Amino acid sequence: MDDIPLDGKRVLVRADFNVSSGPDGKIHDDEDYRLEAAIETIQELRRRRCKVIILPRRGRPEEDPEGADITPVWHRLQDLLREDIQLIHHLYGEPVEAAVQGMEQGSMLMLSNVREDPREKKENKKFAEQLAAVADVYVSESFSEVHRARTSLSLVPTLLPSCAGRRTVLEVEMLSRLSANAKRPYVAIVSGSKVTTKVALLQRLLTQVDTLCLGGKIANVFLAASGHWKDGNDQAEIEAAKQIMQEAGPKLLLPIDVIIGNDDGTDVREVSIQEIPEGTKAIWDIGHKSTQGIIKVCETAQTIMWNGPVGRFEVDAYGLATKAISQALAELSSYRLVGGGDTVNALEKYRLTKKYDHVSVGGGAMVAFLEGKVMPGLEPLYTDG
Ligand code: 3PG
Repeated sequence: MDDIPLDGKRVLVRADFNVSSGPDGKIHDDEDYRLEAAIETIQELRRRRCKVIILPRRGRPEEDPEGADITPVWHRLQDLLREDIQLIHHLYGEPVEAAVQGMEQGSMLMLSNVREDPREKKENKKFAEQLAAVADVYVSESFSEVHRARTSLSLVPTLLPSCAGRRTVLEVEMLSRLSANAKRPYVAIVSGSKVTTKVALLQRLLTQVDTLCLGGKIANVFLAASGHWKDGNDQAEIEAAKQIMQEAGPKLLLPIDVIIGNDDGTDVREVSIQEIPEGTKAIWDIGHKSTQGIIKVCETAQTIMWNGPVGRFEVDAYGLATKAISQALAELSSYRLVGGGDTVNALEKYRLTKKYDHVSVGGGAMVAFLEGKVMPGLEPLYTDG
């Protein structure tokens, strides 16, 4: 934003506001982190007398129209900014042109959810031209989506002078500290639901970290792969886990005890991995000794990356390990980066987000970045180095 002329321009701010809402349909303060992440850029553009045209994305309208409603985002963003934002239920064309024409310098306009147009998902030149037509400049504040090739992320910035917003630049800087010259010892904690979606990340991390701690469903697959748990995993997942175990050697820290019980958090028991009862259908959390093991190794680290809660923290009885690790890491002086939607939600729940060096807005995007993948939504913003 320092490198291209912005002052007084019509600026299209592409924002990923893919956040959940509460049962009342409203977005609350523990759900609005992706809105907060865009505020610095929006406010700077307003100070610089730009017409700020926000092009938001929320949810997947084709699967869940209610979860893709942009109105709660519009309300919440106005609350956070303490300013009115004009909302227009269009994405391009004459109604948008007229609205932009009528805007005062420094004011804001929010367009419809860009995902409402099916052409967003398959890079479409015509749609890109329609979106670009109302602006002089494009600013991306969509770090959590830049691993996707989408019309408004990877094509529109090729049609206008473009740059990354302040938060997007920060994300790239902070995550780059992990990829290249991380201070050692470097410890990663990875969790999540499927090994097969994280194989590339785990393999890459094994070349960079000193210890790789696993939790959550991923760790459970490893427990199945090592013969400690029989049920609940498909063979492809188990084979992927076996492969990683062979490559990892002593770098891998797996749970030594786990929490089992009913899915509503009743009949909770802690057992060692040697004592997981026959017929156990689900493992919900890592146990106390495993939690202490992770905390201990983190206490010796200079760099910590954490992606994925280690248990089903949404149920309090299965959130003890995630809470204990969140609290312990919050007190450390090492460089601590956390990311992934659920992990951020957990930190929000325990009111600890501010205690970390960086809380990434990226879920899949953070993983893709750490895997070293090409990021289609970043490439056009960084072409001049
Ligand atoms: C996210 O929420 O992680 C991003 O917005 C990506 O969402 P998508 O998987 O629907 O593209």
